Parts: sequence; structure tokens; C-alpha cells
Amino acid sequence: MPSADAPKKVILATTGASGGVFARAMLRALEKDSRVQSVDFVASDGALRVFAEELDITGRNGLAAQLLGAKPKKTTQHSNENIGASIASGSYQVDAMIVLPCSMGTLARIANGMAINLIERAADVCLKEERRLVLCTREAPLNKIHIRNMQYAAEAGATIFPVVPAFYNRPVDSDEMARQFVCRVLAHIGLPQEDAYVWSGRSKKK
Ligand SMILES: Cc1cc2nc3c(=O)[nH]c(=O)nc-3n(C[C@H](O)[C@H](O)[C@H](O)COP(=O)(O)O)c2cc1C
Repeated sequence: MPSADAPKKVILATTGASGGVFARAMLRALEKDSRVQSVDFVASDGALRVFAEELDITGRNGLAAQLLGAKPKKTTQHSNENIGASIASGSYQVDAMIVLPCSMGTLARIANGMAINLIERAADVCLKEERRLVLCTREAPLNKIHIRNMQYAAEAGATIFPVVPAFYNRPVDSDEMARQFVCRVLAHIGLPQEDAYVWSGRSKKK
């Protein structure tokens, strides 16, 4: 499935909103996709707490390997405190950044230019360099501050892609649900997936 615009260098950031299964599915998809040459991966402290609560994954070191279930081939994990990492500079070329899931706290700081950790700085760089930035926000219900921040981020150039899974593909479990959501996000940034469910006018029968 060749595409001239397919991103080759992708940042995946994961923050402390519910949905560790989505982050895991995204990292696995990026590692597997031959069009992707490198993945820069950052997890916030909040994300680590969510991984522990939802996936029984603990610890910061080797997080990518734990999520992948194997040694990463193209993923470099960065500390969120390392504001001097490569992805903190616009001179380091990346094609797209995905924040999945994106907490309301991280959304607020990105939307208001408060680049106090690596995730927020890398997102800030994507906006100033006019690179693709996808914020997979997750919260319910939304207060007016959340809604305003989504508007601010969208006006600055980000795509707000809420973690809202589909049901018309009749997923049998959360992994299948997460995989289809990841397919939609990847298609949005120019990485369509061959196994993505495509609506054909009626729902898939199991
Ligand atoms: C199990 C768990 C689930 C959470 N779910 C959400 C959520 O869905 N959305 C959200 O905005 N915050 C959620 N939070 C709260 C954030 O983790 C918290 O606001 C944190 O400070 C966000 O920091 P970060 O954006 O740096 O990761 C959750 C926290 C825990 C422990």
C-alpha cells in the first residue's frame, strides 16, 4: 500500500487518560508498519499509572518492550523530563505526532503553549513547524474548559481525534476495538492499514 505522503518518522506520546489498550495497539501498529522508519515514544507519569491500572504493566524502563511484547526494532523511548531530547527541537525532522490517549491536562497545556515537559514541547514544535499533530482526547463528560482547549488546539493546527471507538465493525473485544480505532488514526495521517474495517453500506456479520 505505497503512499508518497506516508509519514516515515512518527512521535507517539501517551498520557494519563484512560485507554492504555489504544496506546499499546498504536505502538504495535507503528512498529509493524514497513513505511514507518522510526518511532519516538514518550509516556507521561500519568500514562505509567494508567498502564499499571489497566494493563498490569509497571515501570518506566523498557516500557516500549513491555507494550510490544518484544524488543523494539524502530522505537526509541524518551523520558518525559528530558526536554533536551531530539524531538524537542524543530531541527529534528518528524512527519507526524500522535498523542494517544491525550488527557485533559496535556490538552490544556498544549492548547495554551505551556511546554513544560517533552510531550508538550514536541507537540508545540509540531504546531510551530506546521507538522501533523493528532490529539486523541479522552474524557467524559467534557466541561467548557475542555471544549475551549480543544478549539484552541484545533485552531493552532492540531487534529482533535477523540477516543471514540466504532461499533459497526462489531468488535469482539477491546483489542479489536482499539485496532480499528488505530486504523482510523493511521489512515488520517497517511498510513492506511490493509486490515482496517471499511464500511460497505451494512454492518459486518460475525
Ligand atoms: C486510571 C486513571 C484514569 C484516568 N483517566 C483520565 C481520562 O480519561 N481523562 C483525563 O483527562 N484524565 C484522566 N485521568 C487523570 C490524569 O491522569 C491526570 O489528570 C494527570 O495529571 C494527567 O497528567 P498527564 O497529562 O501529564 O499524563 C486518569 C487517571 C487515572 C489514574
